[in-house]
Amino acid sequence: MRKKVTIVGAGNVGATTAHWLAASELADIVLVDILEGVPSGKSLDLLQALSVEGSDVSVIGSNDYGPTDASDIVVITAGLPRKPGMSRDDLLRVNAEIVTKATEEAMRRSPDAILIIVSNPLDAMCEVARRVSRLPRERIIGMAGVLDSARFATFIARELEVSVENVTAFVLGGHGDQMVPLPRYSTVAGIPITELLDAATIERLTKRTASGGGEIVALLKTGSAYYAPARSTAEMVDAILKDKKKILPCAAYLQGEYGVEGLFVGVPCKLGSRGLEQVLEVRLRPEEHAALQRSAAAVRELVEALPGTASAAR
Ligand code: NAI
Ligand code: 2OP
Repeated sequence: MRKKVTIVGAGNVGATTAHWLAASELADIVLVDILEGVPSGKSLDLLQALSVEGSDVSVIGSNDYGPTDASDIVVITAGLPRKPGMSRDDLLRVNAEIVTKATEEAMRRSPDAILIIVSNPLDAMCEVARRVSRLPRERIIGMAGVLDSARFATFIARELEVSVENVTAFVLGGHGDQMVPLPRYSTVAGIPITELLDAATIERLTKRTASGGGEIVALLKTGSAYYAPARSTAEMVDAILKDKKKILPCAAYLQGEYGVEGLFVGVPCKLGSRGLEQVLEVRLRPEEHAALQRSAAAVRELVEALPGTASAAR
C-alpha cells in the first residue's frame, strides 16, 4: 500500500508541496483547507496533470479531515503568509490558533503520523504543535533549515559560478533574522567557502541568506516564497518515507544539545522512517556558539509570547 501524506493548508506552499510530492509518485496526498472548493479544485487539477506526468498517486482535496485518516505524515502549512511590512513575529497569535486546530484535527485521525510544521513563525509553531499533540520530539519536525540552506547554497553557487550540486551550505538557529549561516561548514566540492571567498563577500551572502524570505516578500508584495519552501518540505517527506537517514537542517526540540533546553531550533538532523532519528552536534567556535544562543533567545521570546505559555506543559 502506498504511503499517505496530508497537507493542511492548500495555499501556495501546501499546493506546491503537493505538486512536488505527487510528481515524484511518493505518496497519496490529501489537501485540506477551510476555503470551500479550493483544495478539491487544486487536487483535481493536479490529478489531471499527473496523467501527463505518468504518476498514479491519488490526490484528494477536502474541507474536512475525514479523508486524512491514517496518514503517515501530516504537513501543516495552514496560516497567513507574511505580507510586506509584517514580520514573522506578527503572525504569532493568529497562526498559533490555526496550527492548534490543524494539529488537533489531524492527529485525531492519524495518531501515528509524523508532523512536519511549516507555518510561521516556524519555531514557535512547532512548539504549539508539540503542546497540542504531546508527541515525542522524534515526531515533530520544523521545516526551515533546508530552505535557509538552499538559499545560502544558491548565493554561493552563483557567486563562484559553480554548480549548485557542488555546494553544501549549513545554516543553524531559528527561522528568523538571527539565523546563523556557518561559512566554516559550508563547502564547495568539500572545500570550505572560507578558502574560496573573502570575508566581505561571505558577510554579504550570509546577510542575504538571513533576509532571504523578506527579499522575496518585498518583490511579490502579496505573499511570501513558496517554490523553495515547498521543495524543501518535499525533501523532508522524501527522507522520512524512504527511510534515507538523510542529514538535513531542521527545527528540532532540543534537550540540552548546543546548550539549548526545551526549545525548537534549527540544527542538523538525521531523518528516517522514525522521523527525527538523531540530532547531530558539531563543534562551534565561541562566536558561532554565541550567535546560536542569540538566535535561540529570539525563539524563546516568541514562545514566551504564545497564548497560554504560563500554563503550558513544558
Ligand atoms: P497561503 O495564504 O498561500 O496559504 C495558506 C492557506 O492556509 C490558505 O489557503 C488558507 O485558507 C489556509 N488556512 C488558513 N486557516 C486554515 C485552517 N484553520 N485550516 C486549514 N487551512 C487553513 O500561504 P503560504 O504562502 O502557503 O504560506 C503558508 C504558511 O507557511 C505561512 O504561515 C507562511 O509564513 C509559512 N511559510 C513558512 C516557511 C518556512 O520556511 N517555514 C516558508 C514559506 C512560508
Ligand atoms: C520564508 O523564509 C516566509 O518564512 C518564509 O520565505
